[in-house]
Amino acid sequence: MTNLESPWAELLTEIGQADSAESIEAIRLKIFGRKAGMLTEAMKDLGSLSVEEKREKGQFFNQVKTTLESALSDRLDSLRSAHVSKQAGEGLDLTIDLPEQDRGHLHPIHEFIRAVEDVFGRMGFDTAEGPEIETEDNNFNKLNIPETHAARDSQDTFWIKSETVLRTHTSPVQIRYMQEHKPPFRMICPGKVYRKDSDATHSPMFHQFEGIMVGKDVSLANMKHVMEAAVKELVSDDVEFRWRTGYFPFVEPGLEMDMRWRGDESQSREGKWLEVCGCGMVHPNVLKNVGIDPDEWQGFAFGFGVERLLMIKHQIPDLRQFYASDLRFLKQF
Ligand code: PHE
Repeated sequence: MTNLESPWAELLTEIGQADSAESIEAIRLKIFGRKAGMLTEAMKDLGSLSVEEKREKGQFFNQVKTTLESALSDRLDSLRSAHVSKQAGEGLDLTIDLPEQDRGHLHPIHEFIRAVEDVFGRMGFDTAEGPEIETEDNNFNKLNIPETHAARDSQDTFWIKSETVLRTHTSPVQIRYMQEHKPPFRMICPGKVYRKDSDATHSPMFHQFEGIMVGKDVSLANMKHVMEAAVKELVSDDVEFRWRTGYFPFVEPGLEMDMRWRGDESQSREGKWLEVCGCGMVHPNVLKNVGIDPDEWQGFAFGFGVERLLMIKHQIPDLRQFYASDLRFLKQF
């Protein structure tokens, strides 16, 4: 590189002083341009030389060519990296409007179940799980559901074989838990349940979370407080509640809880009362069935539908959207 003579040596100096990609390009044209490029022109004269001279000059011009080419690209590289490190030195530009990154997140149902575990966890409730394939005994008999009860009807229940069902509610998890734990205790059991039902508000598989609290003097007042506090945290603080009597074979008395948005008569929610949950004081027969003395212990139990609460919370008209895997729906959460 250093043994280049005039005028090529001056070009090297010029390249070394170039301070932008544009000036590098200008020098490249000045040397290699098809028309009037210095080297292009010099090579044109080769044709008139003798074979001997042609070889000599040809070798020389080749050396000039490679030397200048690599000087040009080296200079361009060093200009670029100087530019990048200058930017980094100035810090990141937080005003740049970058496209939003797509990130995955929990399905709204699982996100909700985590919130349920968190809210009840803070009130001292344990979380328990059980199998989705259950015995008829745990799903019905021990829960005081008589053989003749409509819920056993083959219309509602998926029978796997005789005495084995897909659980129709998560109450059998409470049976299992009560057989394994000594009172006092409080627990919730979220999970999938199955019923032969399918339309905009029913699905053959859906999610429930049920809960139970057993102690010496656990009362309906305790139940109301726990349930109202939980729904306020999970759905909205801005709701009011109403309690009606309801029948479930495993509780006595049995109640149903309704909720509605406060002061929302004129709005889209129409101030309608919405049924959200069945509950009540655990029936003495159920306690006896799991070996707990009903003269010594009492408690309450409740059962919520997860999809139902989410539909109310987000005003979702069709529950099948939860299972359609449509990202336009899921991304809204
Ligand atoms: N197991 C009932 C159901 O699935 C809900 C429930 C639970 C009702 C506990 C009362 C008490 O419909």
